[in-house]
Amino acid sequence: MQIDLASATTEQIYNLLIGIVAPRPIAWVTSMNIAGQLNAAPFSAFNYMGIDLPIVAIGISNRPGSKMIAKDTAQNIRHTREFVINVVDEAGAEDMNICAIDFPAEMNELKIAHLKITPSLLVKVPRIASAPASLECREISTIEIGNNRIVLGQVVAIHVKDEFVDQAGPYILAEKLHAVGRMNGLGAYVKTKDTFFRMPRMTYEDWKLQQEN
Ligand SMILES: Cc1cc2nc3c(=O)[nH]c(=O)nc-3n(C[C@H](O)[C@H](O)[C@H](O)COP(=O)(O)O)c2cc1C
Repeated sequence: MQIDLASATTEQIYNLLIGIVAPRPIAWVTSMNIAGQLNAAPFSAFNYMGIDLPIVAIGISNRPGSKMIAKDTAQNIRHTREFVINVVDEAGAEDMNICAIDFPAEMNELKIAHLKITPSLLVKVPRIASAPASLECREISTIEIGNNRIVLGQVVAIHVKDEFVDQAGPYILAEKLHAVGRMNGLGAYVKTKDTFFRMPRMTYEDWKLQQEN
């Protein structure tokens, strides 16, 4: 199949792109409106973009069916300029899915999913207590392109449960953390438990030696 996107619908583009750009990490974002009301929602258009500065990006489309009205998360981040990205593990997957329901703005997904929160170190927005790791972020900028908002955030503090840290690096014990990733739009996810394989990076010298043998 080949497709020129000029003649494709938004739905077709969505279906194809999210199935091809996969697996994706999931940012389970906690945010707060100016009145202090909390919100939580997952976003898999997410990755880290740099380490110096430590930058993350989240792609948030506008509310379904109501073009140009931002989702609560995007509005909150614009207004308070703070958010927390919580990592989704296998134990948290179902609660994360509840937070993806398009609830009215006044409903708090954290309460509905019975999720406990705990204070952050530097930002007012709390983090999800059960998450294996969380990134406290301050908004650098929100870029509006078409019907999307791309939130760029600077990570200002990191939390990881001790059981998932090798203090030597410190490294994340990713095999133990059991993060889940999102696949296509058909409700498919991947588990990372017992699925790791190792492939050390090669230097140019290593590669040349391999060619000779
Ligand atoms: C695993 C998962 C990933 C999602 N990723 C995105 C995403 O990257 N961008 C987006 O706009 N919506 C995404 N959604 C949908 C939002 O989570 C959903 O619209 C949510 O209700 C937004 O909440 P809010 O209005 O409280 O911000 C995703 C949903 C799920 C279940």
